[in-house]
Amino acid sequence: MAFPVHRKRRLRASEAMRSLVRETKLAPTQFIYPLFVVPGKGVRKEIGSMPGNYQLSVDELLKECAEAVSLGIGGIILFGIPDAKDEFASGAYAEDGIVQQAIRAIKNEHPKLLVITDVCNCEYTSHGHCGKIVDGDVDNDTTLEWLSAAALSHAQAGADIVAPSDMMDGRVGAIRKCLDDHGFQKTPILSYAAKYASVFYGPFREAAESAPQFGDRRSYQMDPANSREALHEMQLDLEEGADMLMVKPAMPYLDIIRMAREEFPVPIAAYQVSGEFSMIMAAVRNGWLDHNRAILESLTCIHRAGADIILTYFAKDAARLLG
Ligand code: PBG
Repeated sequence: MAFPVHRKRRLRASEAMRSLVRETKLAPTQFIYPLFVVPGKGVRKEIGSMPGNYQLSVDELLKECAEAVSLGIGGIILFGIPDAKDEFASGAYAEDGIVQQAIRAIKNEHPKLLVITDVCNCEYTSHGHCGKIVDGDVDNDTTLEWLSAAALSHAQAGADIVAPSDMMDGRVGAIRKCLDDHGFQKTPILSYAAKYASVFYGPFREAAESAPQFGDRRSYQMDPANSREALHEMQLDLEEGADMLMVKPAMPYLDIIRMAREEFPVPIAAYQVSGEFSMIMAAVRNGWLDHNRAILESLTCIHRAGADIILTYFAKDAARLLG
């Protein structure tokens, strides 16, 4: 039976009617807020390409955490920018590294705030690549040792979840074993499993001062043209012990989010990355898009595609809008 018996507009007639039949609903607890931490005191340096986002010293970071707690945001993910970088990414796994210090300070002040750490080396290497360079390429198996050491140092400092984002083969298994061997069987791994070699990380690399000094990341991050490969990456990470899987970026990769949701029973996260944030903000600043509606629509669609958890620079704005 079709028109005139069926009129789809009946259920769209008022906001009350629309909210009654809405299939996808956002809540602040689904959002993870990314934060950039730097050494020093009183530092709050705005990132040019990411308005409203800052490099923060630990004291300033704590203010953001207090806000995240009061807005009911699901958690934060930390990225560190060390004072000095070297060939061995030593800042990534130093006991008193900048992220490790930040975790301790946050756990001291906001013990209930969920703290996730990005486990990668690119912010800590002098060359900006995600691991040890041998013959002009990132050497997979040595890098696994650095990643395991970094994840362990985060767990020791009090991180609730570790999230490897480097795309080395076997990193989830290596990190799981290292955590287990040191008594951290309870620390979950959120794997950036389907992480693409994307142009949309551009603003982040300014924020984290992590642009590669030569070449690019295409020998380890995924080719944007591939989707079956994403399923294989995710399957391997689950076999190695990942508790949750992430797709990154989010909006241009909604099909991958949907496939992940249909294929795997674990929680699926999606990262609305820096370039997605900056595109929306640039259009908003030109008066071309409505800020609040762009935020809620983009996040709703990422959730509708199948992401249970969304990492987003809009976490605070969205939580306020939903509150
Ligand atoms: C570290 C890492 C990156 C992002 C998250 N973790 C950058 C990269 O891979 O170059 C990007 C996040 C964003 O763009 O918001 N490897």
